[in-house]
Amino acid sequence: MELKVEGIIGQSRTLKEVFRILAKVAPTDSTVLVTGESGTGKELVVRALHANSRRAEAPFVPINCGAIPRELLESELFGHEKGAFTHAIRTRAGRFELAQGGTVFLDEIGEMELSLQVKILRIIQEREYERVGGAKIMKADIRIVAATNRDLEKEVEAGRFREDLYYRLNVIPIHLPPLRERGEDLMLLAEHFLARACRQRERKALGLSPEARAMIGGYLWPGNVRELENIMERLSILCEGTAVTPEDLPEKIWRDLGRERPKPEAPAVPAGFRWPTLADLTAEALGLKEFLDTVEERLLLEALDRVGGVKNQAAELLGIKRTTLIEKLKKKKLETT
Ligand SMILES: Nc1ncnc2c1ncn2[C@@H]1O[C@H](COP(=O)(O)OP(=O)(O)OP(=O)(O)O)[C@@H](O)[C@H]1O
Ligand SMILES: [Mg+2]
Repeated sequence: MELKVEGIIGQSRTLKEVFRILAKVAPTDSTVLVTGESGTGKELVVRALHANSRRAEAPFVPINCGAIPRELLESELFGHEKGAFTHAIRTRAGRFELAQGGTVFLDEIGEMELSLQVKILRIIQEREYERVGGAKIMKADIRIVAATNRDLEKEVEAGRFREDLYYRLNVIPIHLPPLRERGEDLMLLAEHFLARACRQRERKALGLSPEARAMIGGYLWPGNVRELENIMERLSILCEGTAVTPEDLPEKIWRDLGRERPKPEAPAVPAGFRWPTLADLTAEALGLKEFLDTVEERLLLEALDRVGGVKNQAAELLGIKRTTLIEKLKKKKLETT
């Protein structure tokens, strides 16, 4: 069977190796542990694993173990019986039950508390569990896939992760190297994201100038593919020329490369501030709402750019709450995180 990996871009040796393992392991029911820094594409790979498995038509149920407090996580995973705790007014199925026949994705498993890890071990070994407050033994026909950006071996040494669970999860390890170690894939991905963002915004495709390429290639991409995706999306909105030049790149990239971005010739904020007029609106061929949205979008992006993407600082610059900023970004689909 041919491996379906739509949407996963890359031709580097490391990525080809990932595809090779995926093809072998996808059709089996083996537990897989995907590791790699934040933003390296762990979730993408796990979804491909499910899509290429015999469980593809059954549910894919992800759960972020790091985002849910311990008490809630347990009942979220295993479900609970009516009356199991104060707010358990009715019996509720957990994610393992909802995933019956399919795949459960335990994301950020490294954040899970030891006491819950025991129960995960049991479900992997025995394919059995009980709902919280329940006595009935439930059978789980599921495949378990986990991901983490922590070094679980170190976590085991530090006593924060159960060794037995680590070995159970690590039957088939898939490691995604950071973007800076993927050679030619970096440019491939940059061009892919830029072209896609331009298409989505119905603007003509932007090129990357050789100087901009050199800077993109020199930067270490601590946020990996996600950071690259976000920056390309921003460029598709902010870049005014026909090709991206170094001046278009965020200040953070300049700083990390030990360079200082030259001040733009025309100051970003015109000396004599002028309120937009109807003429500006018609010149841009926009309706009022789109015009205001565009203005807002540019200000949000400028603020984020100024502070290297740190949201609470950007919110402060804008005089809005961090949560408001996140909501706006989400609405405008400007950020994936
Ligand atoms: N090889 C790739 N080709 C195309 N898009 C990719 C690739 N790798 C990652 N992406 C995109 O980058 C973003 C981050 O990927 P993903 O969410 O899978 O990362 P992650 O490793 O789960 O990150 P985190 O640890 O922060 O949860 C997503 O939008 C994903 O679609
Ligand atoms: Mg993830």
